[in-house]
Amino acid sequence: MVSLAVDIAGVRLRNPTMLASGILGISGKLLRKVARAGAGAVVTKSVSLHPRPGYRNPTIIEVDCGFINAMGLPNPGVDYFMKEVVIAKEGDVPVIASVVGERVEEFVEVALKLEAAGVDALELNVSCPHAGAGLIGQNAELTYEVVEAVKQKVKIPVFVKLTPNVTDITEIAKAAANAGADAITAINTVRAMRIDIETGKPILSNVFGGLSGPAIKPIAIRCVYEIYRVVDVPIVGVGGICKWQDVVEFLMAGASAVQIGSGIIKGLSIFSEITEGLKCFLEKRGYEDINCIVGLAHRV
Ligand SMILES: Cc1cc2nc3c(=O)[nH]c(=O)nc-3n(C[C@H](O)[C@H](O)[C@H](O)COP(=O)(O)O)c2cc1C
Repeated sequence: MVSLAVDIAGVRLRNPTMLASGILGISGKLLRKVARAGAGAVVTKSVSLHPRPGYRNPTIIEVDCGFINAMGLPNPGVDYFMKEVVIAKEGDVPVIASVVGERVEEFVEVALKLEAAGVDALELNVSCPHAGAGLIGQNAELTYEVVEAVKQKVKIPVFVKLTPNVTDITEIAKAAANAGADAITAINTVRAMRIDIETGKPILSNVFGGLSGPAIKPIAIRCVYEIYRVVDVPIVGVGGICKWQDVVEFLMAGASAVQIGSGIIKGLSIFSEITEGLKCFLEKRGYEDINCIVGLAHRV
C-alpha cells in the first residue's frame, strides 16, 4: 500500500494536495466541502484586520492557459472570519489561514486572532501582485521583519507565500527562512495585464492583475527548484496544477506538498483524481512513500 501522507512543519496531511488561498476560501462551508472532496488541507482566502470590499469589476478575466485576477483581496475581516474557521475545521483536514496586512503589527494581530480561532497553521501572504502588501515580499528586509514578528508571537507553524515578481526569489526565501519561517509556499500569481483592443483600455479595473493557471507552471517549477537549493524548510508548490503529472513535477523539483487554485475550475473531483493518479504512478515505479520523490530532480 502506497503512502501519500506528508508532514509539513508538523502539519500532517493525508495526501500532498491543498486548496490554494483565494479560491473558495472565504466560506467555512466551502472549505469543508473541499476537504470532504479529498484535499489534504485547505487554505483560506487572505484575511485582513478590517473588512476589504475589493476592487470594482472587472476583477478577473480568462486568458490563454489561465486567468488574470485583481480582486483586491476582498474579505470580511478577521473578527467575522473566525466563525468560518470553526465550520471549516469540520472537514477534518488541517485548516491553514492566509494572513494579509499593510503593516507588521496588522500581520501579528490577524495571526494571533486566527491562531485563537483554532487554525492549524498560518500562511503569510506577502506576495499579492496587485495590493500594497505584495510589496513586502519584493523586499528581503521587510519579509524578514514580518515573519520574525509573527513567529515571535504565535505557536503554530508559519508558512510564507512568495511572489515570483522579483529578480531573485532565493534572496526572499532565505530571508523568510532566516526569520523562522516553518515552510515556504511558492508561488503567488505573476503580475500581468490585458488590453481591450476595441476600447484601447486595460480590461481590469485595477489595470494590473496576477496571472494564474497552466501558463505559470514552468515559472513556479523553476522557483521551487531554486528555493529547494537554498533553504532547509519544506516547500509548498503552487501554480498551474491541473493533473497528477503536474504534482509529480513539483515534488521532483523539491516541493513536499502542493496547492491547487485555478485548476478547480474543472470541479472538486480534481483532488481525488490527482491522489488516484499519484498512487498509480508510485505503485508502478515501486515507491512505497510519496516523500521518496521529493527533490529527485536535484540528484547529480
Ligand atoms: C481569483 C483568485 C484569487 C486569489 N486570491 C488569493 C489570496 O487571497 N491570497 C493568496 O495568497 N493568493 C491568492 N491567489 C493566488 C493563488 O493562491 C495561487 O497562488 C495562484 O493562483 C497560482 O496557483 P494556480 O495557478 O493553481 O491558480 C488567488 C488566485 C486567484 C486566481
